[in-house]
Amino acid sequence: MSSSRTISLMRFLIEEQRAHPHINADLRLLIEVVARACKTISIAVGKGDLGGLLGEAGSGNVQGEAQQKLDVLSNEILLEANAWGGHLAGCASEEMDDPHPIPDVYPKGNYLLLFDPLDGSSNIDVNISVGTIFSVLRCPDGVTEPRVEHYCQAGTTQVAAGYTVYGPSTLLVLTLGHGTHVFTLDRELGSFVLTRRDVKIPAETREFAINMSNQRHWEAPMQRYIDDLLAGQQGPRGKDFNMRWVASMVADVHRILTRGGIFIYPWDKKDAAKPGKLRLMYEANPMAFIVEQAGGKATTGRERILDLQPTALHQRVPVFLGSSAEVDAAMAYHREHDSQS
Ligand code: AHG
Repeated sequence: MSSSRTISLMRFLIEEQRAHPHINADLRLLIEVVARACKTISIAVGKGDLGGLLGEAGSGNVQGEAQQKLDVLSNEILLEANAWGGHLAGCASEEMDDPHPIPDVYPKGNYLLLFDPLDGSSNIDVNISVGTIFSVLRCPDGVTEPRVEHYCQAGTTQVAAGYTVYGPSTLLVLTLGHGTHVFTLDRELGSFVLTRRDVKIPAETREFAINMSNQRHWEAPMQRYIDDLLAGQQGPRGKDFNMRWVASMVADVHRILTRGGIFIYPWDKKDAAKPGKLRLMYEANPMAFIVEQAGGKATTGRERILDLQPTALHQRVPVFLGSSAEVDAAMAYHREHDSQS
C-alpha cells in the first residue's frame, strides 16, 4: 500500500537531482529507463517454465559461455529500452563482443551504460535468484561514436551503478555516489519504492562466500587465508566462520550488504587466460562502487578495484569485497606473502 511517506524511485531521483548538481535530467532518465527494463526482466524471470524461456539459447557469448534464453532476452530488453531516450552515447554488454551504438535515427546523450543483463544465469533453470548489474560512465567530451577505449575508464569515474535481484522480492540497489540505497518493487503499484536508505555494511563479519571447489587452483596466500577461516575458534583468527555461496553475485553481494560478510572470487590457475572469473566492467566495478558507498571495501586482494585502469572491455579480475575489516584481513595475507617472495 502506498502513502504520502512512500518514496518512489522517481521521487528519490528528483530529490537527489535537487541536492546534487551533477545529477541531471538525463542521468535521472537513464536510471528510470534501466529500472523499467529491469521490471520487464523481472516479469520474464518470474514466469519461469510458464514463459517457455528456460534453457539454453543455443548460442555462445564473447566469453565462450553458453547463453541462456533469458540472457539473450534480458540483453535485448535493456538495449531496446535504452535506444531511443536520447540519454546514451552507447552501451556495452557482457553478452556482446563489441560496444553497441545508438541507432542513428535517435539523438545521442552523454552517458555510457555497461551491463551484465542476467548475472548468475546458471541459476535460472533451478529457480534461484538472479539479477542485472549496471554501471554508468560519462562519454568523453566530443566523442559521438564511442569505441572500446572510451569505455575503458577506471571505476572511480562511474557516476552511478546498481544491481537488481530477481528473488522472492525484486530489489533494486543503487548508488549515485551519495550512499547506497535499496528499492523494493511494489508489484501492485508496478514501481520501485525506497525501502532502505544509506545502508552500511558491518565492518566485522564471521561469514564468507567463495566457491570452495576451486581451492586447489588458488595461489598460496589465498589457500592460507581460507585454511585459517576454516580453523575457526581454535585457529589464528580465533572465531568460527560460516560459509554461504549462492553462485549469483547479486544474491551473495546483497546478503553481504544486508548483514555483512566477504565475497571472494580469487585469481586461480584453472585457466591461464582468465585471472579470476568476474568481469571488471560489468561486475567488479559496479559492485565495488556500491560496496564502497555502503562503507565496505572492494579489492583484487592487492589493489582497490575502482583504481584499476581497464585494458579491455571484457577483462576479468579477482574480487574480494564486503566487510572492510575482513577485506583488510584477506589483503594482509597477500601482502605478507608478496613481501616474502
Ligand atoms: P554467469 O552470470 O556467467 O552465470 O556468472 C555468474 C558469476 C557470478 O554471478 C557468481 O558469483 C559466479 O559467477 C559463480 O561462479 P561459480 O560457477 O564458480 O560458482
